Amino acid sequence: PTIYAITPTYSRPVQKAELTRLANTFRQVAQLHWILVEDAAARSELVSRFLARAGLPSTHLHVPTPRRYKRPGLPRATEQRNAGLAWLRQRHQHQRAQPGVLFFADDDNTYSLELFQEMRTTRKVSVWPVGLVGGRRYERPLVENGKVVGWYTGWRADRPFAIDMAGFAVSLQVILSNPKAVFKRHGSQPGMQESDFLKQITTVEELEPKANNCTKVLVWHTRTEKVNLANEPKYHLDTVKIEV
Ligand code: UGA
Ligand code: MN
Repeated sequence: PTIYAITPTYSRPVQKAELTRLANTFRQVAQLHWILVEDAAARSELVSRFLARAGLPSTHLHVPTPRRYKRPGLPRATEQRNAGLAWLRQRHQHQRAQPGVLFFADDDNTYSLELFQEMRTTRKVSVWPVGLVGGRRYERPLVENGKVVGWYTGWRADRPFAIDMAGFAVSLQVILSNPKAVFKRHGSQPGMQESDFLKQITTVEELEPKANNCTKVLVWHTRTEKVNLANEPKYHLDTVKIEV
């Protein structure tokens, strides 16, 4: 099956560095289609040029987050992930679904190549541990007799699916047979996006544990430090224009 990776991304000083790191990983994965969704009113020159040279099958989308939703404490990238879902559904509406697996790949996380081998065998919805998240070294689904029976987490253990966006994959078939499943703004509390989405397409009992019964960390919720631009000149001083 093809792996579809939906990546929301937005303009900031580290954007090209993040995308470079991500592309260097994805380029080593067979049959991966990258759906890059810019949080912007238009596709940017920087991302367009970058993708053209990335050497990966890709689709370049954009949708701006409404200003009222750009606030600390509110979920990020809701509209961008939904745009990726809409594109996938549109592309597959006429033919019987080709085998495919979808996952949500934020642009700042760290992905091992083994992770892609694991998720490729997803039948409906698969799950695995995520490192460096939830105020712990890792969070993970607790597995008994091959079934998920609970969650090891330090944060909001009341979540129906106590899992980060980086901790699951969904088969294309499930996405197509649940055409209304989307990420929601209304009534979605912080940290509940994953649960609110997964509730629409699966149950805890149905989840397929990967990564040796969820005992191996193959993805890390890394976050990039804010860059220090204290010495950036107020006006363009360099003799040429440099894209960073
Ligand atoms: C955590 C989760 O890991 C995310 O999946 C979740 O979207 C996020 O919380 C949330 O608060 O909604 P965190 O590291 O805090 O992640 O979030 P970011 O990595 O800053 O953002 C998640 C993704 O959305 C990234 O790919 C980022 O490039 C993108 N993003 C972020 C936008 O497209 N627009 C923004 O304004 C901010
Ligand atoms: Mn992040």
